[in-house]
Amino acid sequence: IFSQVALAPADPILGLTDTFKADPRADKVNLGVGIYKNEAGQTPVLNSVKKAETKLLSEETTKNYLGIEGVQAYNGAVQTLLFGTGSALVTAERAMTAQAPGGTGALRIAAEFLVRNTHARNIWISNPTWANHQNIFDTAGLTVKEYGYYRAESHDIDFDAMMTDLSQAAAGDVVLLHGCCHNPTGIDLNAAQWQAVAELCRDRSLLPLFDFAYQGFGAGIEEDAQGLRLVAALVPELLVANSFSKNFGLYNERIGAVTLVAKDKATAVTAFSQIKRTIRSNYSNPPAHGALIVSTILTDAALRNEWEAELAEMRNRIAEMRTLFVSSLKAHGVTQDFSFISRQNGMFSFSGLNKEQVNRLRDEFGVYIVGSGRISVAGMTKSNMDAICKAIACVL
Ligand code: LMR
Repeated sequence: IFSQVALAPADPILGLTDTFKADPRADKVNLGVGIYKNEAGQTPVLNSVKKAETKLLSEETTKNYLGIEGVQAYNGAVQTLLFGTGSALVTAERAMTAQAPGGTGALRIAAEFLVRNTHARNIWISNPTWANHQNIFDTAGLTVKEYGYYRAESHDIDFDAMMTDLSQAAAGDVVLLHGCCHNPTGIDLNAAQWQAVAELCRDRSLLPLFDFAYQGFGAGIEEDAQGLRLVAALVPELLVANSFSKNFGLYNERIGAVTLVAKDKATAVTAFSQIKRTIRSNYSNPPAHGALIVSTILTDAALRNEWEAELAEMRNRIAEMRTLFVSSLKAHGVTQDFSFISRQNGMFSFSGLNKEQVNRLRDEFGVYIVGSGRISVAGMTKSNMDAICKAIACVL
């Protein structure tokens, strides 16, 4: 039976990490996967997380199962982060949240829920988008369609293409939106563009599904939720898949959530019962540790302050690396204008480097970036910047 199975292609992001690990060169640099590195090139556990874990370890009394939807305090804290303190839709109990294993787990639960329980069959994703989106939605049984998003010549958003393509969507189609720090381009909608997308979704009865994996990595925790809150104020229904891998540095705890917003409380309760059923058939109920860390931090004023400061430090260091990257490329004799990199948000920069240049970076210089030309700026440091820019100058 197994001999009939075809070999799967390597994952464009995690597969690259495998190749990187097997590379014997000492001076190799991984700018592929989106993992934050500090100035010393490490991905440390946040201090706020360590303190929460110490507290949890001393106070833990049981390893009993969680409910299907996970830690209640966590789910409440997620809603406040997403929609803000005193949000009208939260107060009206229109939102229901289930803890999920990372943003990927949340997206997969959302997609499976839609396929099994609604008439939604198509999902529109941006071109380009995160390399795993197509895979997740295909596997769950949705038909994936693309909307234009990026204008390569100007390294800018192609908002006209986005609106033109989305106006072809049929009532009931799902639209995947990156809440902030668009992956891979780092280019986000402005408030007027969010408003236009929200009106389009409302007027054409499209269902927004937010992938919100980088809250706090753009302009700040509240600022980065602007698009989501604007859309949520206009449409009756939406879904959010959020992740705490990046903003709490909890990558291997696999902690995220799926949030459903319905037109009223009764609809939310009924629809959410099917989200729970989807979870039960996948992994029964979620693991506890990541959710307990996040809820401990978010419900303790001192820990929360410390986390916010640590998050700001990560955000500011990445912004600093963007500026340094642009000036270092210049210093290495690159005449092409790369100033657009300092205007992008979040961990990634869409460099415009082509496949051949990406391959040369890896083979000749041990600098790993994703095949699409996406560079994880979060993996750059003052120490590796020179080598990276020298390599890029050579392949250009
Ligand atoms: C990325 O885009 O690099 C991250 O979201 C990690 C992943 O799972 O691909």
